[in-house]
Amino acid sequence: GEKAVGHSTGKLILVGEHSVVYHQPAIALSFPLVEVKAIVEKAPDGISLDSSYYVGPLNNVPEKLQGIVACIEETLKHLNQPATGLRIKLDSTIPLGRGLGSSAAIAIALVKSLFNYFLRQVSKQELMDLVHLAETYAHGNPSGIDMEAAISDQPLWFEKDKGTKPLELGGAFHLVVADTGRIGDTHAAVASIKAKFKSQPQVTQTSINRLGEITLKAGQALSSGDSELLGESLNSAQMELDSLGVSDQGINQLVETARKLGALGAKLTGGGRGGCVLALAKNGADAALLANGLKDAGAHQTWFFTLEKN
Ligand code: PMV
Repeated sequence: GEKAVGHSTGKLILVGEHSVVYHQPAIALSFPLVEVKAIVEKAPDGISLDSSYYVGPLNNVPEKLQGIVACIEETLKHLNQPATGLRIKLDSTIPLGRGLGSSAAIAIALVKSLFNYFLRQVSKQELMDLVHLAETYAHGNPSGIDMEAAISDQPLWFEKDKGTKPLELGGAFHLVVADTGRIGDTHAAVASIKAKFKSQPQVTQTSINRLGEITLKAGQALSSGDSELLGESLNSAQMELDSLGVSDQGINQLVETARKLGALGAKLTGGGRGGCVLALAKNGADAALLANGLKDAGAHQTWFFTLEKN
């Protein structure tokens, strides 16, 4: 073809970040209010990238975007196509490094757009393998939760090396997301917990185990439609994540603001130390108020939406 498009949403971790690294369960969902669109067009020669992060030839892409290069090159190799004659445009509303799954989403959109361009169907396994490659650049050792969540139309129960299962919702949940505006460092946060395991094995293990129990409770809350219980779970998870050292003052401030404004619960989402805060509101009207209040309190950007059975 002359032109093709690929698309992906972002993702949110509801609960279970960090403890998921230690084989506790996590719950994640697609976040359709942020998205990436990749557009592939025929070009005279070479491959050029046109994005808000970088514009120019693919062989000149800065180090931190190498995952994108790997993803494009490996996908073309997989499709038996030469690495030339393409202009690839990325349109994204997912802020980078905020725990919203930007790197997985970019890779998903790229792989889909290239398969579409060459008129090929992509299987889930092919998508997983090619996205995993790109994610390895961004994350080191990605659990795969980002890509699974982004492509699912239901919230997912996720366990490392065990795969996922969809969670049925027993009611509607009103979620608010607030961006601290600061890029988090998931790598460093994961490493700091690993170090804490060495210096304080017992307290660290206890926190990880508690996060696992909290995730179980959150799963029950989702399937029974119990917003109060989900809110409590989010608050308990934030306490553990803070004691593990992956929250920070900016996050804590937004969490406190959310609770003062009537949120049933609030916590960081994703790697922490920057990134985003997730809050649960009582109803849709409260969610809108919370989003505004969090913006007044310094959040760069806020979103709100209702999570319900579709
Ligand atoms: O990519 P992020 O920032 O949403 O973090 C991923 C979640 C962690 O549990 C912190 C890391 C991981 O590999 O699961």
